Amino acid sequence: MEDAIIMVDHPRPSGCNALADDADRNRMLAEMAEQSTDMISRHTPEEWRFIYVSPAVTHLLGYQVEEIIGTSAYDLYHPDDVEDFKRRARSVNYNRGLYTHTYRFRCKDGHYTWLESTSRTIRDNSTGKIQEILVVSRDVTHRILAEEQLQKYREDIEHAGRLITMGELASGLAHELNQPLAAMVNFLRGVERRFAGQQDIRWEEIELPITRSINTALRAGDIIHRMMDFTRRQGPVVTTLDIAAIVEEMCEFCESTAERDNVAIKRCIASDLPAVTGDKIQLEQVLLNLLINGIEASRENAGDGPPQVAVEVAEFDQNNMVVHVKDQGKGIAAGDLERIFERFYSTKSGGLGMGLAISRSLVETLGGELWAENVTPSGACFSFTLNKAR
Ligand SMILES: Nc1ncnc2c1ncn2[C@@H]1O[C@H](COP(=O)(O)OP(=O)(O)OP(=O)(O)O)[C@@H](O)[C@H]1O
Ligand SMILES: [Mg+2]
Repeated sequence: MEDAIIMVDHPRPSGCNALADDADRNRMLAEMAEQSTDMISRHTPEEWRFIYVSPAVTHLLGYQVEEIIGTSAYDLYHPDDVEDFKRRARSVNYNRGLYTHTYRFRCKDGHYTWLESTSRTIRDNSTGKIQEILVVSRDVTHRILAEEQLQKYREDIEHAGRLITMGELASGLAHELNQPLAAMVNFLRGVERRFAGQQDIRWEEIELPITRSINTALRAGDIIHRMMDFTRRQGPVVTTLDIAAIVEEMCEFCESTAERDNVAIKRCIASDLPAVTGDKIQLEQVLLNLLINGIEASRENAGDGPPQVAVEVAEFDQNNMVVHVKDQGKGIAAGDLERIFERFYSTKSGGLGMGLAISRSLVETLGGELWAENVTPSGACFSFTLNKAR
């Protein structure tokens, strides 16, 4: 067959038989290429025009062999992927002579299919110049769709976790919302008492209660917005974050829940801490899970005085920050220090056992680690690291 796949160089034996062997081998390889369910193609180096393509192209993409020869692969890439590939083209690294990438390619009927291709350059032996590119491609649509589905499930679980966390905080937050609402009623009742029935009211006389009411309503609004943000379904957005500010906000957020359980939240946050990278909502989710666990563990503390949950933020090493959430509860049985991170492991009557599993996976996705230790005289300390922003 003319213009079939180019054979890879190998040491040639001499003599007529050797030539016959070569011809046989080439014929065999060409036949394999023709019958392969993977698509095998050869391309020009600059525009990746098809010089050869195996018949699998019809099954994979719907084109006949003849209609795709001469076409540039760039014209069939998904626009987003072609831009990405062109950007990376200079730095494409043919590791051990091979390069593998995954992208979307346009089928004859116009829809895009995911291909994974391994390409290899064929070079001129003497000059080293690329003569053509040999590519083996396979359809990985099922795999990509399965990965997307898995990612969606992961996000659904994280979202469900946030709803549960918010549920646990709900009564504390309701109490917190009740305070500004009650304060506003007081301010406005005061105005009502003083000015009811009066024809002329001077602004100076009512300015204070009115501005106070506005500020109090804004504070109540902030609490509601925070709840809405936290429970909103959204994918992660990794940005540079002020860790100290987020820890402070989360401690404040849990304050009313802690107070109801007679637990004190203590902050030990160094000043001028470097920024970290992460998704704000995910970081809040981890902190809330640990804080709520700490508060719940403290609830059972039978010691003197109000038990404390202490949150500490410090430098961990050159590249990482660390957050410790330490309580004065009973601690964790030595044999359970790893088990508590398993999904659905819970010793609480109403617990789902997902808080720590989700938190660990969130921290690890961001390149950090989350672990638990017991502390003396009593209590548990959960620590996690976060990458410093560069
Ligand atoms: N600070 C802590 N002190 C002692 N034990 C803890 C502490 N934090 C977690 N645990 C143990 O680890 C288990 C798992 O915690 P995790 O947060 O994953 O689930 P949960 O709190 O039981 O339920 P939820 O899914 O609502 O968070 C808890 O049930 C508890 O036994
Ligand atoms: Mg929990």
